[in-house]
Amino acid sequence: MKNLFILGSPRKNGNSATMAKTVGNTLLQKQNNSVEYIYLNSLNIQPCQGCGACSKTGDCILEDDMRELSIKTEEADRIFFVSPIYFYSVTAQLKTYIDRCQPQWAKKYLLKKKDNVPLERAGYLLSCAATSGAKLFEGSELIIRCLCDTLHLQYGQPLLIKNAEKENAIQNNTNMIANCITFGNELLKVSDKPKLDIS
Ligand SMILES: Cc1cc2nc3c(=O)[nH]c(=O)nc-3n(C[C@H](O)[C@H](O)[C@H](O)COP(=O)(O)O)c2cc1C
Repeated sequence: MKNLFILGSPRKNGNSATMAKTVGNTLLQKQNNSVEYIYLNSLNIQPCQGCGACSKTGDCILEDDMRELSIKTEEADRIFFVSPIYFYSVTAQLKTYIDRCQPQWAKKYLLKKKDNVPLERAGYLLSCAATSGAKLFEGSELIIRCLCDTLHLQYGQPLLIKNAEKENAIQNNTNMIANCITFGNELLKVSDKPKLDIS
């Protein structure tokens, strides 16, 4: 299974990156799993210009790293959207990527084009935050649910960690690391399902 981690934090070794790497390393215990990490902060992804071109053609007119990333997301079996909470939402880096998924939304809902993507795919939110309010992750969960629907991904159980502020807070907390490993182990139990192409 191809596991793609799309990371939205500007901190390459911060808390959300620790979550991603811990889950990724756990998944690698199974031989047929591959893992790839994409750091959005290192890519050139321009914000959506709202030009409406994709509503007519299904394609974006902007030429940047989003083209290659869109291919990777179509090929992945599982996609992990990884972001700390910034003002009760995902980071600007992740939101910029999400807005650029508008062509996929247009293809699905306006143009009714059937994408050639596997039926059995899942998307997950991995997120952390400094505080512990009850509604801390609600905004991000809603956004990622909507994104998963657009990208033909079943929305899976998220991994959410509160009370993690300093850059190495999760790395230094054995309980938090154990939660990440447990999350990965649960995914290891999911058997590989046969893939059917939508055509
Ligand atoms: C611009 C900014 C906004 C933030 N907003 C929130 C917030 O609304 N609620 C919260 O609990 N933590 C907030 N935080 C704290 C981060 O979510 C927290 O430090 C997290 O562990 C950072 O993860 P990272 O190391 O992967 O970047 C914010 C941090 C920054 C820099």
